[in-house]
Parts: sequence; structure tokens; C-alpha cells
Amino acid sequence: MIDYRKLGYISEKQHTFCEYEGKMIVEHVITRNGFNDNYSILYQKRAPTHEVNTETYKTENSFFPSYNKINNNELKRRHFQTPNIQKEGNLLEARATLLVNNTCTVGILKQSKKDHFFFANADADELYFVAEGKGILQTVMGEIDYIPGDYLFIPKAIPYRFLPTEKGNMLVIEGKNNFGIPSEFRLPQGQFKLDAPYNHRDFHSPNRLMELNKNDNFPIIIKRNNVLTKHEYTDFPYKVVGWDGWYWPFSFSVHNYQPKTSSIHLPPTVHTAFSGDKFYIMNFVPRVLDYHPKAIPCPWPHSNIDCDEAIFYVSGDFTSRKGISNYSISFHPSGIPHGPHPERYEQSIGAKRTEELAIMVDTFEPLFVTEAAAMLEDKKYHYTWDSHEHL
Ligand SMILES: [Fe+2]
Repeated sequence: MIDYRKLGYISEKQHTFCEYEGKMIVEHVITRNGFNDNYSILYQKRAPTHEVNTETYKTENSFFPSYNKINNNELKRRHFQTPNIQKEGNLLEARATLLVNNTCTVGILKQSKKDHFFFANADADELYFVAEGKGILQTVMGEIDYIPGDYLFIPKAIPYRFLPTEKGNMLVIEGKNNFGIPSEFRLPQGQFKLDAPYNHRDFHSPNRLMELNKNDNFPIIIKRNNVLTKHEYTDFPYKVVGWDGWYWPFSFSVHNYQPKTSSIHLPPTVHTAFSGDKFYIMNFVPRVLDYHPKAIPCPWPHSNIDCDEAIFYVSGDFTSRKGISNYSISFHPSGIPHGPHPERYEQSIGAKRTEELAIMVDTFEPLFVTEAAAMLEDKKYHYTWDSHEHL
């Protein structure tokens, strides 16, 4: 996690008798890796364990939380046209998982209405990238306003819901283990290094607690092993008056990412923003391009063996691709070369700047394509590198 934060009322000494507005409040410790990793302590009016009904929750959505992998995973470069996704609605109605392996998933959420429930993912930490849409991410640890360009990180098992004020279009990545800030960006004591691509101030924890009316009550729908269970209570269990610790949801604007540039092309790893076990997330942001007089700003044709690569194109004219639109996802698996389209390679010479914005997920376990992704596939994409000009 990022650092220590606190919000609202907390006791002077942890795990001692504590009152709020004349009534005893309880501590709820949320801790990772047993009791051996980052934790936060929530101060709640009541312990969150008073369910009166618990049942398996079924949705009509066959793309989330469970999904089917396609059988035909032939080795080729793929292009998924996510603007063709028809599903909209709340989080459970609209989310679609497109690429999966044992360590992470990549999906899309077109959130068009507010959630009437809280959702918690007990399988993975989640990172959304807001390509379109505005609203409030309401979590039991407080609220975060979001706008386009924001990453939203929700740690594993923290209940949350979306209250959109504008329809959202978001990339969503699940990471099962050690998802967050890459260790190479930190000093041993935890502070970000001065040459990290961001600073602690760029990460925004909730700035206000949820305001609940006396009779507000919401079920909490929890995903565990890709199965949903609905938990219902006589009153909402997260009446939180304060919290502190190192485990909290945050927003980070991609526009605060500080890109590295060079005289000649640098590998995409210099654009790393987040990582988890066996995967990295990189972002290509508007920046000055390579400044050697003979530099080719486009990347090489490359075979990054042992690594699958998915890119979500957000905006701008992506330097190395043709035939890709905003919100396309390209998927370039390990085992075959890929790279810029030939025209783009040559056209890039002399370019001083790019306005591209894209998010890339590199995985060190093979990704599998789901049925939801297969429905969006542009099947001609694999062959679009051929050009008679280069015969
Ligand atoms: Fe690549």
C-alpha cells in the first residue's frame, strides 16, 4: 500500500475502550496475509457480523463473475473492439471479463446506473481505469470522486459501490497477490524514491466518510472463488466513524504520472505504474518523444518472450498502430513477434511529441481469451501488418 492515512474519529490507543457520541464503538481490523501484512482499523458503531440472511446471488450476466474461456486459443495477434459491448447497467449487470489467467484478469465495465448494493471482491484487489464517466466511488472507508483519467484501486474485500453522475466506461484489472506499487519505486522504509514516476501526494484516499441516513441499509454481495454471496443485515454493518492504517482505497490520476524520456527508444517497462505477482501495468501518456536526430520513436518489431501483452487504447493517435480506435484492446501473446505497423515505424521519424494515452497489462503467465472477448474480435487484425510498399 502507499503510506499511513487516517480519516474521521479514531481512539487514542488501539484496542482500548472507546466511545463516540456517548456510545461504545468497536474496532474492526482488516489485515492482509493473515496478520502479517498491511492493515487498517475501522471504528464502527457495530461489528459487521450480524447477517440475518445469506444466500448465493445469481445474475443474468454470463461474463462476470464467472466466465467461459474459448476453446480456440490459436496463436495470433488479436484486437477486441470493446465499443461493441452492448451490456450496460450496474456493476454486476455490466462487467465483462475478457482476458484471464491465474494471477490477473482484464475486463471492461460500462456503468450506466448506480449500484443498489455494496460489492466486495474477496478474490483479488481491483484497479479500474476511468476512460469515460464521472461519479463517486463510495466505499465503507469513505468516498472518492472520480473523473476520466483516474485509476481507482479497491483493496481486496473492501465493500464499495459506484454512484455515477455520468455513464462510465472503465478498464478493470483484478490482481490476486501483491497488487500495488512496484517495490522498485520504494526506499526500504516505504517512502517512494525521488525518481519514482509519482509522489505520495498524487494518491488520494477517501476524503470524507459515507453519510448514511438512519434507515439506509444495503446488502453486501461478496465474490469469492468467482461465486457471489449476498449478505443481508437488519441495519447497514459499516457505520464507520473513522479509520487509520495502511490499507485503503485510492485514486491516482494518470495525468500525474511522470513519464521518462530518452534520446532513443526506451522499452515499455519504463512506463510501469503498478504491478502484481506475475504481471505489470504500464501507461503510455502524452510526452516528449525520443530526441536523437536519427531516432525512431516507434518501438521495434519485438518478441518479448515469456510475456503476453494487452493494451487498452484510451485517446490520442497511438504511435505504433493503425486500425485501432479508442477503447480497442489489442492482445499480443508470447510466441509470435509483434510491433508497429510498417507505415507507423517510418512515419514516426522526426516526431517530437505524442498525445497517446493507453494502458498496458504485461503478464508472465499466458492469458486466455473469454467468450465475451471473442464476441468483440476483429478477426482480420492479425494480417494487418502486410503492406505491398514493403515488398
Ligand atoms: Fe509489445
